[in-house]
Amino acid sequence: MTIDTLNQHHAIADVLTFHTGMDDQPIAKIHNATATAEICLYGGHVLSYKPHHETEDVIFVSDLATCADGKAIRGGIPICWPWFGADPDGLGRPNHGFVRNRLWQVIATAAIDSGTTKLTLGLSDTDDTRNLWPHPFELAIAITVGKALTVELITRNTGLTPFKLTQALHTYFTVGDIDRVRVRGLEGKYYLDKVEGDTRKFQSGAIAITSEVDRIYLDVPAVLTIDDPALDRQIHTTSSGNSTAVVWNPWIEKAAAMGDLGNTDYKTMICVETTNAASDVIEVAPGETFCLSASYRVNRL
Ligand code: BG6
Repeated sequence: MTIDTLNQHHAIADVLTFHTGMDDQPIAKIHNATATAEICLYGGHVLSYKPHHETEDVIFVSDLATCADGKAIRGGIPICWPWFGADPDGLGRPNHGFVRNRLWQVIATAAIDSGTTKLTLGLSDTDDTRNLWPHPFELAIAITVGKALTVELITRNTGLTPFKLTQALHTYFTVGDIDRVRVRGLEGKYYLDKVEGDTRKFQSGAIAITSEVDRIYLDVPAVLTIDDPALDRQIHTTSSGNSTAVVWNPWIEKAAAMGDLGNTDYKTMICVETTNAASDVIEVAPGETFCLSASYRVNRL
């Protein structure tokens, strides 16, 4: 669909319009009474969410991000599906699955009220996806922009046999100063430390980032909090459909080695991801749906 056709069918006057964005991909821009947001149809990828009372975007996107040549966008909310992390079968398929670098379709747009706007995007199986993963599916992402940003990732099994999933809403948050950031809510939980070969460890206090962090937390609560004193704010994440969460910051060497992340970007971002990862594997029966969701709300300190 062209940008004109998208606007003819799905724009909401003064609230939601479609434009050409990063690397000529279509993006939806939302501006309502409470917040602004941008969503790229490539990857079904949220790029920006900013309540009007905030000066800094809640969502971090690298200045070096690109979606040219089938790349996944560095930053925003990448959707990892139908597997999280490395190819579970070791067949050389892409890290984090194959939907974060595909063009999604607009299913619906809705003005819930003057300060709440919803955009639903969809993706379903093709010959190409069945070559990578042999299952028929319908995937939808419903993005609600209001006082909170809510993202619901809904998987429907349209085939005749069950399938298994791991997945993530791999959200990159903007922070003011990583040295002062604390992630709360995971105290007393065990995690798999990916930096040390998946060693199981115990989290005794709030999480501080002082080196590379790449951890799958187990048995997580619904609400996590990112304390960001440098921006005078807290971000609360509320999730459902998951029992794991990932905390990731590449730190100095990894950031420098990544072509699409600036050398100092590790100071102003943190990923707190709502996941079904490790042993948190979801089975979806034929005709059934499964919803993984996360909601993000900012508090001024
Ligand atoms: C995190 C993983 O979720 O994503 C890390 O736990 C990984 O191991 C990171 O490095 C980024 O992955 P990618 O494929 O976007 O570079």
